[in-house]
Amino acid sequence: MKSSVTRLDRFISQRSAFKQADTRLLIAQKRILLDGQVANSIQQQVTQFTHVLLDGQCLQHKQALYLMLHKPKGVVCATQDHQHPTVLDLLEHPHKDQLHIVGRLDLNTTGLVLLTNDGTWSRTISLPQTGLAKTYEVTLAQPVTAEYVEVFRQGIYFAYEGITTQPAELEIDSAHTARLTLTEGKYHQVKRMFGHFQNEVLALHRASVGALTLAGLAVGHSRELTEAELRTLALQTGAVHSGR
Ligand code: URA
Repeated sequence: MKSSVTRLDRFISQRSAFKQADTRLLIAQKRILLDGQVANSIQQQVTQFTHVLLDGQCLQHKQALYLMLHKPKGVVCATQDHQHPTVLDLLEHPHKDQLHIVGRLDLNTTGLVLLTNDGTWSRTISLPQTGLAKTYEVTLAQPVTAEYVEVFRQGIYFAYEGITTQPAELEIDSAHTARLTLTEGKYHQVKRMFGHFQNEVLALHRASVGALTLAGLAVGHSRELTEAELRTLALQTGAVHSGR
């Protein structure tokens, strides 16, 4: 999950035979291109996704990746597992080894999982202060009652962490099904919230993250997020994505 930013003169000394102090001259001679633009200051910031050319030679070219996956049941949200297939096993992307998971789902939870190689983006998306809404479709063993709505709105005390959950919105769809919208992601949060009422979660599906939905994406399939989706997420969360 590296997301380091390096000053241009430092980057040049690390990735070429030139010294840090040579960078001013290289800039004056217009020999460095950053994302296709002539570099103009030794203080310019080089991220892991900046395309850097020096005298036409590529010093760095790494594409930022942002994907969504429709996770099936029985697939683990990990990069490696000895027992179960992992979400990475489902991907066919040539650079899937670079990816990490943004907000895990339990083994038997289905639904929307985000993956990226951009640590800055995933950190912002995941910050509790960001408050990005995640909606879950829940099937319960016992009937769900109107009482739950107010209790979830008020928050539930999790003794293990010593915290109270952020206000959550519950919409009851039928006696045993509901939609729960959370703005945070504590460990087993949905199951523990219904556990407060001794009501077992029989099935759990993450239907959306912010404005992102699984519309048109079959179970087990994945796709890259579109520029428009990334822009909407940036407006919702402040998570700036790298240009592609
Ligand atoms: N809450 C849970 O309990 N499980 C999940 O997989 C996601 C949220």
